[in-house]
Amino acid sequence: MKFFLDSADINEITEINKTGMIDGITTNPSLIAKTGQNFIDVISEITNIVNGPISAEVIATSSKEMIQEGQKLAKISPNIAVKLPLTRDGLIACKTLSKEKIMTNITLCFSAAQAILVAKAGATFVSPFVGRLDDIGHDGLNLISEICTIYSNYDQFTTEVLVASARSPIHIIESAKMGADVVTIPPGTFRQLFKHPLTENGLQAFLDDWASTGQSIL
Ligand code: E4P
Repeated sequence: MKFFLDSADINEITEINKTGMIDGITTNPSLIAKTGQNFIDVISEITNIVNGPISAEVIATSSKEMIQEGQKLAKISPNIAVKLPLTRDGLIACKTLSKEKIMTNITLCFSAAQAILVAKAGATFVSPFVGRLDDIGHDGLNLISEICTIYSNYDQFTTEVLVASARSPIHIIESAKMGADVVTIPPGTFRQLFKHPLTENGLQAFLDDWASTGQSIL
């Protein structure tokens, strides 16, 4: 399973990338707005930090303008994945950009039917939003299960399932059990993955016992 970091914060990205576990980055207009910085500058800086796919989202709503914005974003670096909304125009733009060998990430996927359209449009990634479905009383993880099952039924569906809007380690664990290709993780949730009280308590006990021996390894 690939781990993308769901952030546009350069400090967070730089720090967490040091773990060597980050395979890409996803951003969206809300995350860019939070930085208070120029969109193109932020995305360029991120491409210099992380080698994998960096999702940069278009703002246009017509396919013609989405294609123009996507082509401009793709020029920033070969590892840009143009993020397009799951609309009729977004999928038309996806087909064109895919033919131009530009990576695409179709965002705001909330149903299996939509995910089938995304695969038929030849997208590199589909982003189903688990947390936002949970927020309205639906089962976000069930959507991941449906998409993984459907995509695995068809060899010609090469789109990778990118679990988005993940809000807790449970979303990540359950998606991994279902075989999702990628999960994009907010920085706080990524840090949570390391933590277990028995690890912390156990390590403290080992260190205390070691100190009582008066020895040192180095
Ligand atoms: C990633 O591509 C999405 O933009 C992001 O995961 C959305 O997460 P949220 O629902 O927590 O805003």
